Amino acid sequence: MSYVPSLITVAIVLALLYAGMNLGWRWASRRFLLPCPSWLSWSLEGGFVDWWTATQRTLDRIGMAPGDHILEVGPGPGRLLIPAAARVRPRGAAVGLDVQPGMIERLQQRGAEVENLSVQVGNAESMPFAAESFDIVYMAMVLGEIPHREQAIAECFRVLKPGGRLSITEMAVDPHFQSRATVTRLAKTAGFAEPRIIGRPWSFTGNFRKPISKT
Ligand SMILES: C[S@@+](CC[C@H](N)C(=O)[O-])C[C@H]1O[C@@H](n2cnc3c(N)ncnc32)[C@H](O)[C@@H]1O
Repeated sequence: MSYVPSLITVAIVLALLYAGMNLGWRWASRRFLLPCPSWLSWSLEGGFVDWWTATQRTLDRIGMAPGDHILEVGPGPGRLLIPAAARVRPRGAAVGLDVQPGMIERLQQRGAEVENLSVQVGNAESMPFAAESFDIVYMAMVLGEIPHREQAIAECFRVLKPGGRLSITEMAVDPHFQSRATVTRLAKTAGFAEPRIIGRPWSFTGNFRKPISKT
């Protein structure tokens, strides 16, 4: 007697496989550098993605202003960084640092006309910037992809000006999602103060201040 799986069975098996893959990826990312691959950059572009991931609302929550010198860690193809560059004009500058050359290439193509945008290949765990360079350092759906998160947050602290702001956005659609408690704990451990969490537990932005003086 042959067995023909129903559509529901197939859907459940596929969902379990997908969940298992994501859990495995999440687990492995704590040990190895396994970023969202560059060939998936298309999944972070376009009007539907902007709506789905609330790009403009995220930028509002990060809270940049004209004249700010900002750094996005892990910008991918520039979903947030390209409109962010427009928000800090005039006089402000936007910098993107991504560990994958393929993501940076795509960002360069998409942001070719943006005058105040510069991008660089590099690792969040060891940033190629001088201390106290930026007013705002932000990241979205990136923290969980970084094996040594503490080191990356310490680097954010180093490159921020005193009084500058670290902003971390997390969304539960991301397999590497980090909770509000984890984000707050990591930021506080690195020396950040004045935690301000905006949003729901499954989609939020955490803003933290680098104290003017460490004493
Ligand atoms: C899921 S994508 C998010 C892209 C973008 N932030 C957004 O929200 O549309 C994660 C990005 O972080 C980058 N990334 C992962 N680990 C990194 C690291 N250690 N240093 C710098 N970038 C990293 C990946 O290459 C990828 O472009």
